Amino acid sequence: MTARLVVLISGNGSNLQAILDACASGDISAQVVAVFSNQPEAFGLERARRAGVPAILFLKRAEQTRRGYDAELAEQVAAYSPDWLVLAGWMRLLTAPFLDRFPNRVVNLHPALPGSFPGTHAIERAYDAFKSGEIRHTGVMVHLVPDEGVDSGPVLAEAVVDIRADDDLAALEARIHAVEHYLLVAAPTAAKN
Ligand code: GRF
Repeated sequence: MTARLVVLISGNGSNLQAILDACASGDISAQVVAVFSNQPEAFGLERARRAGVPAILFLKRAEQTRRGYDAELAEQVAAYSPDWLVLAGWMRLLTAPFLDRFPNRVVNLHPALPGSFPGTHAIERAYDAFKSGEIRHTGVMVHLVPDEGVDSGPVLAEAVVDIRADDDLAALEARIHAVEHYLLVAAPTAAKN
């Protein structure tokens, strides 16, 4: 059975691209049936279009509450009958009106190890912690999003990423993204077990 994936993005979409490529090559038995973004300039929307995947820009209206937006987003996403919702650089916290529509089916990618650096700028914060001698490595995780906790759900996959003494932030970001592209593709298989 080919798993139906809906991917939510807010930016470049390099992780979306890793998923699209893995689907196209048969590395994973899945298909991206839609891509949603909350950001008009997200290059990930262009990546979807190039792959022939519906690319939906879903903006929050000024008068809309966060929960109202999430409920409406859930409605739009549900129309694609997803088996999995993949948050690949989706930079908005999702609330219960969205999450409760897809129990145990929302997966998030976060560029840090479980319990470390939840929230935004995780790579930068890890880099600063390394520079101040607090940590020797960082990592990446893929986890379920059962509730409104920030980067805190049950972990499906994780990988340690070394930080090197001569790294600048860009070098660490590149190393982390390379691991993300691998881990996110491997995680659905792990998730099925
Ligand atoms: C990734 O580092 C992801 O873990 C984080 O946002 C970044 C998105 O990168 N949540 P991209 O848009 O997939 O290139």
